[in-house]
Amino acid sequence: MQLGVCYYPEQWPRSMWADDAQRMAELGITHVRIAEFAWSRMEPRAGQYVWGWLDEAIETLAGAGLKLVLGTPTASPPKWLIDAHPDVLPVRADGTRWNFGSRRHYDISSETYRRECVRIVSAMAERYGRHPSIVAWQTDNELGCHDTVPSYSPAALKRFQAWLERRHETVDRLNEAWGNVFWSMEYPSFDAIGLPNLTPTDANPIHLLDFRRFMSDEVASFHREQIDVLRRFAPNADMLHNFMGFFTTFDHYRFAANKSIDVAAWDSYPIARTESIALPEEQKARYARTSHPDVSAFDHDRYRGIGGGRFWVMEQQAGPVNWAPFNPVPAPGMVRLWAFEAFAHGAELVSYFRWRQCPYAQEQMHSGLHLPNNELSPGGIEVRRAAAEIAASDVLKDLPAAAPAQVAVVFDYETQWMFEIQRHGTAFDYQTLAFDYYEALRELGIDVDIVSAKADLSGYKLVVVPSIAVIDDALVRQIESSSAQWVFGPRSGSKTGAFSIPGNLPPGALQHVLPMQVLEVESLRPTLQPSLWMSGESGIALHWREHVRANGEAQVEARFADGWPAIVSHGRVRYVAAWLTHSLHRTLLRQAAGDAGVAVQALPEGLRTRRRGEVTFAFNFSATTQYAPAPSNARFVLGEALLSTGDVCAWTEA
Ligand code: GAL
Repeated sequence: MQLGVCYYPEQWPRSMWADDAQRMAELGITHVRIAEFAWSRMEPRAGQYVWGWLDEAIETLAGAGLKLVLGTPTASPPKWLIDAHPDVLPVRADGTRWNFGSRRHYDISSETYRRECVRIVSAMAERYGRHPSIVAWQTDNELGCHDTVPSYSPAALKRFQAWLERRHETVDRLNEAWGNVFWSMEYPSFDAIGLPNLTPTDANPIHLLDFRRFMSDEVASFHREQIDVLRRFAPNADMLHNFMGFFTTFDHYRFAANKSIDVAAWDSYPIARTESIALPEEQKARYARTSHPDVSAFDHDRYRGIGGGRFWVMEQQAGPVNWAPFNPVPAPGMVRLWAFEAFAHGAELVSYFRWRQCPYAQEQMHSGLHLPNNELSPGGIEVRRAAAEIAASDVLKDLPAAAPAQVAVVFDYETQWMFEIQRHGTAFDYQTLAFDYYEALRELGIDVDIVSAKADLSGYKLVVVPSIAVIDDALVRQIESSSAQWVFGPRSGSKTGAFSIPGNLPPGALQHVLPMQVLEVESLRPTLQPSLWMSGESGIALHWREHVRANGEAQVEARFADGWPAIVSHGRVRYVAAWLTHSLHRTLLRQAAGDAGVAVQALPEGLRTRRRGEVTFAFNFSATTQYAPAPSNARFVLGEALLSTGDVCAWTEA
């Protein structure tokens, strides 16, 4: 459990650096990330490298005993580069190009830009790769942020056509797989295929899907080109990229494959995220100052899986930020709580953004651990406390890595893309549905792993698949060979990999283990509210419902008032034929957990628990004081059972 900070020496006079470094160490910070936006200072003119300042900054920080994470500066190409190669600017879906003047103004498919990136990264890595204090390298910064994937440039078009040719081999096969006979969309050759933008109505969904798959691969290969350089020059450092919360534009499992990262790092802004995702207004209001209790946990659990067990928080909210629709000051305690929350979910490092609020330019309204006048901010004071608490506890200092959970939630990026391409109803968002299931499990006190459907699922007692568009034979084999309880949500198995309806009707191959068929589907306007009773509880379908038929030995566990099945099951597999109200999801998952032999401890509103090794943590996100559900033999290693808003405690059992 270590604490870090993001620091920008290039934004402050040199005379401050040594004092900053010393005070970081005094505060209990062990890691500092630098350099990820400093290209114009590393190379002010083409080919003229200026390393003196960075040498000095690195030596100053290392001299204070700090470990460094060095970021490659490719998220902010300097003006001379753009002037020399204007085609590096990305093209948006409407055909216009973005301008210089902020950041991320580059086309990920530009071969010119990729060459420039390999050049600057090589120069940096050659110089600093074997520095003993540089323990990790971060590529770029938040790939895809500000909607910078996809790009609709001529470079992207060329690479898309080549990607299609590799995937489909002949254009006849592509025409067949895409169903291009529909609306006379057949192509004579690969180089006749365009990008799926600027069409009068919807482009062919498989055209859109293949473009999203391509763009996802572009992000991974852009990162990979840098990693190949970095591994050569910095063989002993950890490689990482700082991913984002609730972000699905590229497939993070594919990105992380083949050792392209050693640690999954991500940037956690819980209050801003609570404000900006599709939560009911009532929840945004309730958790405006504490953040929704599951919003960070969801990505902690997701990135722990993506990192193969290892994850860091590379940027942690340290106070009010500047980019959400509303940016309130966090409730007292939250800046400390978020660090312990991340540790409880298995984080090795929590690094705050940023050391000091910058009084100029775009992020002057964004807090840090210090006010612009260098006074410790309220968040900074909380970090000092957290660091002291960790240092004072032998148990907390040496927590083992998070063990696998008993319950998995399967999250699938392609499902997100498919249901974005074909929402069918404006309110259907797959990630929001996945979050709803996750939240229900967390309210039941259950620890969760979030994993890919291709992961080895054999160790889990309960596998929850909120939805998965394509059910392939490999997944069916996993179901057949496991002894887990399985829950599949609506739209599972509704598509083939070529974005068609399966020949045997949805849920496709799932019918091998659960004989049922989906006959019709409907998206629901808010006034359409099919109602049902389940285990003595009433509720409705929101957003989405299916008319399904139970075949053979399948059982109908719950029905809508109009007679249509709501839950169909066979053996250990359940299918939920609608997006149900949240409390019905919780009731259903409580039953499934019971059937799976997973212990449930229903938690009061806003309270959450998480186990790591022998330690159980409890967090209070609610507006009222609560008791943590500690047993009578609890030995507290942090705080105590009575938790005010924003407080945390942790215990072992004697
Ligand atoms: C992140 C980004 C940082 C900073 C921060 C502000 O998305 O990586 O550079 O902009 O947001 O919250």
